[in-house]
Amino acid sequence: MSFEGSSSPHQRELSWPTAVNDHLATVPAPRAALLRQRLRHQFPLLQGHLHHIYGSQAGFESFVAGLLLNAVQSACARDDALWALDTAREAHPAWLHNGLVGYCAYVDKFAGTLQGVSARVPYLKELGVSYLHLLPFLKAGEGLNDGGFAVASFDEVEPALGTMADLRALCATLRDAGISLCSDFVLNHVSHDHAWAQAALAGDPRYVGYFHWLDSTEAVAERERELNQVFPGTAPGNFTWIEARQAWAWTTFYPYQWDLNYANPAVFADMAAAMLHLANQGVESFRLDSTGYLWKRKGTDCLNQPEVHHLLQALRCLCAIAAPAVILKAEAIMPTRELPPYFGLGDVQGPECHVAYHSSLMAAAWLSLSEGDASAVREVLSNTPDLPEGCTWLTYVRCHDDIGWNVLRPELTALGSDPAKRLAQASRWYAGQVAGSTARGAAFQASDTRAVHGTNGMTMALAGLPAPLGRDQGEAVPALARMRLLYALSFFVGGLPLIYMGDELGQDNVGETELHTRQGPDGRELHRPVLDDAALAQRHDPQTLAGQCFAMVSSLVQQRRDELSHGLPVALRTFESGHRSVLVLQRGDAVGVFHFGDQPAQLDLTGLNLGLATPVLTLAPHQTLWLHRVEPTAAAA
Ligand code: GLC
Repeated sequence: MSFEGSSSPHQRELSWPTAVNDHLATVPAPRAALLRQRLRHQFPLLQGHLHHIYGSQAGFESFVAGLLLNAVQSACARDDALWALDTAREAHPAWLHNGLVGYCAYVDKFAGTLQGVSARVPYLKELGVSYLHLLPFLKAGEGLNDGGFAVASFDEVEPALGTMADLRALCATLRDAGISLCSDFVLNHVSHDHAWAQAALAGDPRYVGYFHWLDSTEAVAERERELNQVFPGTAPGNFTWIEARQAWAWTTFYPYQWDLNYANPAVFADMAAAMLHLANQGVESFRLDSTGYLWKRKGTDCLNQPEVHHLLQALRCLCAIAAPAVILKAEAIMPTRELPPYFGLGDVQGPECHVAYHSSLMAAAWLSLSEGDASAVREVLSNTPDLPEGCTWLTYVRCHDDIGWNVLRPELTALGSDPAKRLAQASRWYAGQVAGSTARGAAFQASDTRAVHGTNGMTMALAGLPAPLGRDQGEAVPALARMRLLYALSFFVGGLPLIYMGDELGQDNVGETELHTRQGPDGRELHRPVLDDAALAQRHDPQTLAGQCFAMVSSLVQQRRDELSHGLPVALRTFESGHRSVLVLQRGDAVGVFHFGDQPAQLDLTGLNLGLATPVLTLAPHQTLWLHRVEPTAAAA
């Protein structure tokens, strides 16, 4: 495939393959003009990123041409509603700051099927949700599949959950309701029964090249010395012996999840095509799963390599051409300092992801709660950079994964403490193994008693809700206060707050009997309950736990909507409260006071000049205040 020539170097940079122009000639003029505009901007960026990775490989030009043609064809295949969404979001990149509120759920546990999710849209609207992350719903591997994170086909919905037609219908229903659908896009690996893996097993050289193979135990041992382990308890090691190939496959996660080889341009091309195809079904956001692991480099731990950012920025370019409405969300569960590059703020500069999980803030909030000491949260916030327009943090309390403690090591080291000790203490606290703790969680992947890993459990169980809750609903008060503290923080700091399904109804851990029926030995099942219909029915009854949790979460949604739904984000300021357990934040006219301690606290904030009507405060244990500044003249206590 040839590139349109031009004598001026500047113009040459902007000329794209003739096949693209041929295609554009068949497109209605206004759309073709808009696509040309996008290409003018994106093509040089795309080419630069791809050149960095694949430039030395034979056939580079036709590889780029194929990608570009696919992106343009995908854009042209978008229906009118998606096209309109694209142009609207393109014109207002700051739309993401308009107070989105997220909700995260498994399809089967929330509503049975994709059609069932459609039927629950009124509930999501009632809660004020505008962004719905449905955990993996694409066809998953047979048998064990890591909760759907071992994908067997990117082009099919998991049959038990519905069809592609159901997915399209759901996306349209959600869009009409003002809710964007987010789908996981598992970039790092596929299931061992995905067609690519099967072809590789059969020895097809094209697909053998889609994976990483090591041919000796020495080579495996050498790499293992450099790598971490994600599931040391249930899936130790990073490689799996594949008898049919007489070789070791790279399997960072479970043995049935084969890591893709992104050094092979065909892998990138196929994955990009799969993503754009899903975008055309109406998926508006992709949670880019395990992004940190995409590039392997000998002599390193193979995490967060620069090539990862070239790959992600190339994907972003393709979306900007084919589906600019799409939001890319990085799932990079890494220390705070490793996250700015996922927004394109690292060595590889340029637009990358729009959103990234702030897992350090989440873990720090839980740590601070266990210690009655706000220092970890304060330290994380002070390391959290401002983001460019059109980018935001995903803030959350719980999700389907464990609370991974190790992301906090740099912050705890900076605070001059022994990270291993503090994290081990937090892990024991949430497993209810420390005097004074009423938490009912469990340590995750804790096979090595010297190493701390993660903690499982639903918010209310970790917050110490007694089980079973007796007739006296008053017993729930301390746990409710702790839950409100954590949720209020995740809503207050800005960004995109995410409600984890069941938390809004105060749902407990999955019970013992049900846990035994779940697949595999994965401890994370503890916090993957089925939506409790009885609790749902009680959500408007303030006498019930469900009613109290629902009212609490709804009021946070409302508060955030009232304050943050206007225009650009307002920078967050952190203050020294003079009290080790109290965190004071200011964001625009709102002042947040978060008391992580379990004893009452007296606080005089007069010196901070926050413009509060009453700067002298008495806080109950774990109390949260979401206050408003008043005119300075009225600020006297
Ligand atoms: C992500 C998912 C997690 C899964 C892993 C492997 O971290 O959140 O649930 O086990 O990727 O796909």
